[in-house]
Amino acid sequence: MGKLVVATTQYHCLTNKTVFITGGASGIGAAVIRAFLQQGAKVAFVDINLEAAVDLVEAFSEKKQDIWFRQLDISHTHELRQAITDAQQHFGGFDVLINCAADDTRFDTSDITLAQWNDSLNINLTPAFTAAQSAYKIMQSQQSGSIINFGSINALIGMENMAPYITAKAGLMGMTKALAKDFGKDNIRVNAILPGWVATQKQLDSWLTDEQEQKWMEHLAIKKRIQPEDVANLALFLASNQSTLITGQCISVDAGRT
Ligand SMILES: NC(=O)c1ccc[n+]([C@@H]2O[C@H](COP(=O)([O-])OP(=O)(O)OC[C@H]3O[C@@H](n4cnc5c(N)ncnc54)[C@H](O)[C@@H]3O)[C@@H](O)[C@H]2O)c1
Repeated sequence: MGKLVVATTQYHCLTNKTVFITGGASGIGAAVIRAFLQQGAKVAFVDINLEAAVDLVEAFSEKKQDIWFRQLDISHTHELRQAITDAQQHFGGFDVLINCAADDTRFDTSDITLAQWNDSLNINLTPAFTAAQSAYKIMQSQQSGSIINFGSINALIGMENMAPYITAKAGLMGMTKALAKDFGKDNIRVNAILPGWVATQKQLDSWLTDEQEQKWMEHLAIKKRIQPEDVANLALFLASNQSTLITGQCISVDAGRT
């Protein structure tokens, strides 16, 4: 997990940049952390899963000084805001915000309670705004920054039993457009990555069975598994100076599914 593979593309502009990621302890977020560490960036991340976070930090023992972690629930607004302030003070910079944490719990739509609906939006939508607002105040003073939201192609194509999650993901696309307009005057870019079905360990353990994968592949232009690294590569590009005039965009990494 922690093995540092030499990146095929080196973005020198990312060296020593500070990247803050929500939900970095596992899955795509962990691959994003790995990718930024390979670039020589400093990574702050928050996650509710302490065990996975500790494993990740341990796996990068040789890069420990470049990693900052705090356990928190992103729906606790004050704690999330405080973590952003503290991470910025710890590393003395704050260049990239990546809103990656999510909860994709399935619900029977006819039975979902208002509390479940609100809980989902309080994890899958609102913290991305809270974090972006806090990050903006720091980035504004330096007149640069890149904010990357994790949406989902499910907001484009729909999927059963995920109504609040998909609604939140669609909201993130609108938020990406809105914040790109609001923050552009300060040279701060806001984009979204919409992954297709990515073969994280959790997906492989829970949903991505051979049968389901075969069905999924039928709809792909390129019939290959999407790996977390394929998604992380786009995050690097959107964080780098190679994408300086790309903002307000929602880009799918879905092997041509949509
Ligand atoms: N894996 C996929 O196939 C896929 C497809 C489309 C979109 N996405 C999106 O990409 C992003 C990453 O996907 P993933 O599959 O790695 O996600 P995941 O479900 O594995 O969760 C990501 C991380 O978020 C953390 N998290 C969950 N709730 C939290 C909370 N309340 N507070 C703090 N941390 C919390 C988890 O502990 C986990 O480490 C998510 O936004 C997801 O919606 C993933």
